[in-house]
Amino acid sequence: MTTRLFSPPYSAYAAIYDQIGQRAFGERLARVILQLLAARSIQPRSVLDLACGTGAATLTFACAGLRATGVDRSPQMLERAIEAARLSDAEVAFREGDITDPPLDSKVDLVTCLYDAVNYLDDDASVHRFLQGAYRALDDGGVLVFDLNTRSRLMSSWEQGLVLAANSPDLYVTYQSWFDKAIDASPLIMTAFVRSEDGRWDRFDEEHVERAWPIATIESWLREAGFRALETMGYIDSTGELLRPVSEDYGRVLFVAAR
Ligand SMILES: C[S@@+](CC[C@H](N)C(=O)[O-])C[C@H]1O[C@@H](n2cnc3c(N)ncnc32)[C@H](O)[C@@H]1O
Repeated sequence: MTTRLFSPPYSAYAAIYDQIGQRAFGERLARVILQLLAARSIQPRSVLDLACGTGAATLTFACAGLRATGVDRSPQMLERAIEAARLSDAEVAFREGDITDPPLDSKVDLVTCLYDAVNYLDDDASVHRFLQGAYRALDDGGVLVFDLNTRSRLMSSWEQGLVLAANSPDLYVTYQSWFDKAIDASPLIMTAFVRSEDGRWDRFDEEHVERAWPIATIESWLREAGFRALETMGYIDSTGELLRPVSEDYGRVLFVAAR
């Protein structure tokens, strides 16, 4: 029997993350957030983008004029973010770090943590640390915005067996996922074949585990962490449309909480 070796999440994947269309998702989410805040007369001047990945949202914020810092625990994702900032001439600071222990050197008006990143936290204490850290990083009146895949999405669309995620002359990617009730989470095995310049195919496998967090639990923990005004809404991935009232039936939900 051979044991399959997994690369850490978002290590090998970093090389193809933007290429398979993920970057556009973070960029749109950032634009929707800026519009949502503007509609409430909130014009943030600084942002701490936690779990920034390849910098899709961070650079969108920077290009909109915000002083932006991106934090991620994956050095490979950060490497791509730094290169994207260099190509766009945007001034952004990137740092390696964990969303449960955000940097606190200067307070900001906006903290974001986008595109499933909070689903990667696997126990209650980590979610509390994330919320408390975001609260401490914000100035009074500052806003935390993050999203979650709901349990209904993890139980339905992630439980589709084997999905062909990319199939081009140089790239072949599959996702295999299921919902594990014992851990209230959805493991996903990504297998990718990437053709290198000399024509050779390189394979990598990564395991990603997303935990289901109930909306009501997160809302109550936000209040416990000190956040006062709170809005929660559904988010349609394909259009960026926001839906109210929020429901566990939506695939993705967005939390907006003010300090
Ligand atoms: C789907 S990507 C989203 C990236 C980016 N926010 C975007 O919108 O494109 C999820 C990111 O979360 C990061 N991540 C997951 N758990 C983390 C943690 N505990 N601390 C820091 N980064 C984390 C991963 O390394 C990955 O870059």
